[in-house]
Amino acid sequence: MRYSTIVLLTADKQIIQAAHEVLVAENDCRLITCESEREAFGVLADVDCELLICSDDMLEDPSDNLLINSRIKYPSIPRILIASEVSTKASPELASRAAAFMYLIKPIRATQLEIVVKRALEISELSKRHRLLSRELKLSIDDNIFQTTKSEDIKSPWSRFEKLIYVSPKMDELCALARQAAATEIPILIQGETGTGKELMARAVHYNSSRKNSPLHVQNCGGFPDDVLHSELFGHVEGAYAGALSSRLGLFRASDGGTIFLDEISEVSPAFQVSLLRFLQEGEVKPLGSDKTLFSDVRVIAASNRPLEKLVKQGKFRQDLYYRLKGFQLDIPPLRQRLEDVPALATHFLERTSEVSGRHILGIAMDALKRLSRHNYPGNVRELQMEINRCVAVAGDDSYILTRHLSQSIANIDLDEEAPADFEVDGATLKEMVESLEKHLVSKALERHRWNQKRAADQLGLSRVGIANKIKRYKLKEI
Ligand SMILES: Nc1ncnc2c1ncn2[C@@H]1O[C@H](COP(=O)(O)OP(=O)(O)OP(=O)(O)O)[C@@H](O)[C@H]1O
Ligand SMILES: [Mg+2]
Repeated sequence: MRYSTIVLLTADKQIIQAAHEVLVAENDCRLITCESEREAFGVLADVDCELLICSDDMLEDPSDNLLINSRIKYPSIPRILIASEVSTKASPELASRAAAFMYLIKPIRATQLEIVVKRALEISELSKRHRLLSRELKLSIDDNIFQTTKSEDIKSPWSRFEKLIYVSPKMDELCALARQAAATEIPILIQGETGTGKELMARAVHYNSSRKNSPLHVQNCGGFPDDVLHSELFGHVEGAYAGALSSRLGLFRASDGGTIFLDEISEVSPAFQVSLLRFLQEGEVKPLGSDKTLFSDVRVIAASNRPLEKLVKQGKFRQDLYYRLKGFQLDIPPLRQRLEDVPALATHFLERTSEVSGRHILGIAMDALKRLSRHNYPGNVRELQMEINRCVAVAGDDSYILTRHLSQSIANIDLDEEAPADFEVDGATLKEMVESLEKHLVSKALERHRWNQKRAADQLGLSRVGIANKIKRYKLKEI
């Protein structure tokens, strides 16, 4: 139960207090409270949640609501329904339709809540293990076509930072830094090519920060004229410009106490950069057409797919603003530089897509997976996700995703291409020849394991320090 993430949809202060008492204070759970179904839907999409608790008075439509829809979209998250009265017939019906784990009636006692939550989490953990074991069993039965040469790629559960899935050391390091950044109030700059997961990262940071129960607002800064962007972020007063019929609060004030995600920050004009700088320095918000200066306490996370440092050097982005934004800088590597994430991501997307679309695909055949792991993904993780979605659409039920289901460019990848080229030993003396062979073997092992030094070291029977020394000695570099 410790560190479990629980989403609670209620406006009932007594329930919120009881939940804080037993779940947060006594059991170290992460509790995210929501006051509308819409907000709760957003949270479920962003966080790695383990339990959903809803008050029935928060569910607007008895036949189409969060509880029923989450059963379809997130079947592995158990649901608890809290009903207002014993006499209402609608709630037991709803509980049964949504396959709720438990149906509780107000008033809720803290101890009762604790027991039910514990049981729900235990059962959810058991069914998670059951799913994993079934998959392992299926993999071992179908070994002839789905043989996992490196079984740890598929079987071991991957690491997650909310909805970000990864196994690569690069992402591991980055997510560790992101967790540290989340615990502070410092602005964060997330950089990376398109589709690398910048928005996913921003959302993960917000829900791991102390602001998780306050709103996260997203503003795309690209392609808007200054006055529109100003009005969106800083608000405006009535009559500020032709067509401003009523006043507007603006996202900076609407996000007071929460987080704002400024996407495509590199696209803002020099004049707007000044307004942003003032906001970051002083928290100052001056609505368009107003002479009053207001203040707001908002954590800023910005993202860019163009490196800001370069733009600063070219004089296209203010240096002072760049330094303000990059309290923490998180550079997400392109997928081609962490291809070891591909099997985990592909398997995850396959499971998600099959679950949501109700399709039954058995898995990804080894040949297809190998090809997927050699592609260079200019569209990064988004491209891989689309590829898997497409494969699920074209593969038949109860079959594997095979090479012929992949798009042409990936299906055409030649798996033999990397077959070891003939190697000629170099050097005049035996020592030089042995060294040239050693350099070749170390370099090949590193290439084979995509510069995962631990795996290459394991293959060669070296320690991590041992391989690091060889890399240094032979001046080997990742290409
Ligand atoms: N590590 C990951 N694990 C799971 N899904 C991921 C991961 N990285 C990216 N995705 C998925 O890939 C898609 C693109 O991610 P996201 O929108 O966060 O990228 P982005 O960097 O903001 O892209 P853009 O620059 O084009 O806006 C999303 O559907 C997201 O869920
Ligand atoms: Mg984005």
